[in-house]
Amino acid sequence: MSGGARLRAVRVRPELSRAVAVSTPPIRLVPTTPAHAAGMGELIRDPEVLRFTRVPDPPPADFVESWLQRYEAGRADGTREAFTIEDPADGRFLGIAVAPSIRRDERTAELGYVIHPDARGRGVATVALERLTAWAFSDLDAVRLELLISTANPASKRVAEHNGYRYEGTLRSMFVVPGRWEDSEIWSRLSTDR
Ligand SMILES: CC(C)(COP(=O)(O)OP(=O)(O)OC[C@H]1O[C@@H](n2cnc3c(N)ncnc32)[C@H](O)[C@@H]1OP(=O)(O)O)[C@@H](O)C(=O)NCCC(=O)NCCS
Repeated sequence: MSGGARLRAVRVRPELSRAVAVSTPPIRLVPTTPAHAAGMGELIRDPEVLRFTRVPDPPPADFVESWLQRYEAGRADGTREAFTIEDPADGRFLGIAVAPSIRRDERTAELGYVIHPDARGRGVATVALERLTAWAFSDLDAVRLELLISTANPASKRVAEHNGYRYEGTLRSMFVVPGRWEDSEIWSRLSTDR
């Protein structure tokens, strides 16, 4: 797949959609660019983000800039992708839906999601993972998709369940960021899952 093909907004073919979200808020996914730095800056100030993601606590002053550069390089070499979740009505930043690791030879990718604190609790993550999953199966031609979720993060596990991901096991004291090791569940969805 060319870089250009990856840069279009995500659209989901109905036959790839199988989430069972209780509510389905309208969202759109667009490739993350430096234009989304302000929203990212708000995300990394949230205690839940510092608790449950690979953002170091406290975040370095240049965290957003270096994160954006890392994903730009990953988009160029096909090893990562990041989408910003927006409200289609007004373009408001709602969060990010990411593929922090794409292993093309293995047709396997790790996916993840972070929702702005103001946008939580109304199904945004569930719908975003639905779109991201459909993108990974169609655009990456993935066979296996993985989520790594802290054992202490029930909301994220619900998002995984709603999207047909299955719990496979718990990695004990998995390295998360320097100074933090955490029991982390691995969940997967296969292209052959029904
Ligand atoms: C986890 C997170 C992505 C969820 O986003 P969201 O948009 O609020 O998620 P949704 O509204 O789609 O679904 C959340 C589900 O979790 C449930 N939930 C929320 N808090 C919960 C809790 N403390 N215990 C159990 N379930 C909980 C909700 O009821 C909902 O389930 P339901 O649809 O069956 O009622 C968001 O809280 C977040 O960004 N957290 C910080 C970063 C993070 O943890 N990212 C995931 C890393 S693996």
